[in-house]
Amino acid sequence: MKFFIDTANLDEIREAYDLGVLDGVTTNPSLMAKEGISGDENVTAHYKAICDIVDDKVSAEVIATEFEGMIKEGKELAKIDDKIVVKIPMIKDGIKAIKYFHSEGIRTNCTLVFSAGQAILAAKAGATYLSPFIGRLDDISFDGLELIEQIAHIYQNYDFETQILAASVRHTMHLIKCAEIGADVVTCPLKVITGLLNHPLTDKGLAQFLADHAKVNKK
Ligand code: G3P
Repeated sequence: MKFFIDTANLDEIREAYDLGVLDGVTTNPSLMAKEGISGDENVTAHYKAICDIVDDKVSAEVIATEFEGMIKEGKELAKIDDKIVVKIPMIKDGIKAIKYFHSEGIRTNCTLVFSAGQAILAAKAGATYLSPFIGRLDDISFDGLELIEQIAHIYQNYDFETQILAASVRHTMHLIKCAEIGADVVTCPLKVITGLLNHPLTDKGLAQFLADHAKVNKK
């Protein structure tokens, strides 16, 4: 399972990368706004800065919602760096744009996915990644993980090449359950990745080991 970090914050991206387990980054317009990034030039420079930190796969989202605009913007984004994956919303023109980018060899991430039907469409269009939003489904009393399971089953039936990128992952149990189901990628905030480290018995055990070592190694 690949780990992507879901942020546009350079420090957090560096911290996750330094841990040695990061496979990519996902951003969206809200995450860019959170970092105060605005204006075409700044946005481009920020994506470039992200690409310079990680090895590959930086999702950069288009703002346009009609076909021509998405193609123009997506091409501009793809030009920033070979690591860019063009993120396209799950709407009618988005599906057409995904199909277009697929034929041009440009990787895409189909975002804002909330149903199995949408997942089938995106795979048919040739999306590289599919981003079902688990947390936002849970927020409205639908089971986000059940959707991941359903999509994984459907994709297996037809050997679809689209990778399931579980998004809107809010906590470690989301991530672990996604691993059990077999999601190809999980994108999450830094605290979810570092949260995997925590266990009180690890802390207690380490303290005991160090104390026992100190007892017989007095200076
Ligand atoms: O990857 C999508 C993500 O940024 C949305 O997360 O927590 O705002 O639902 P959230």
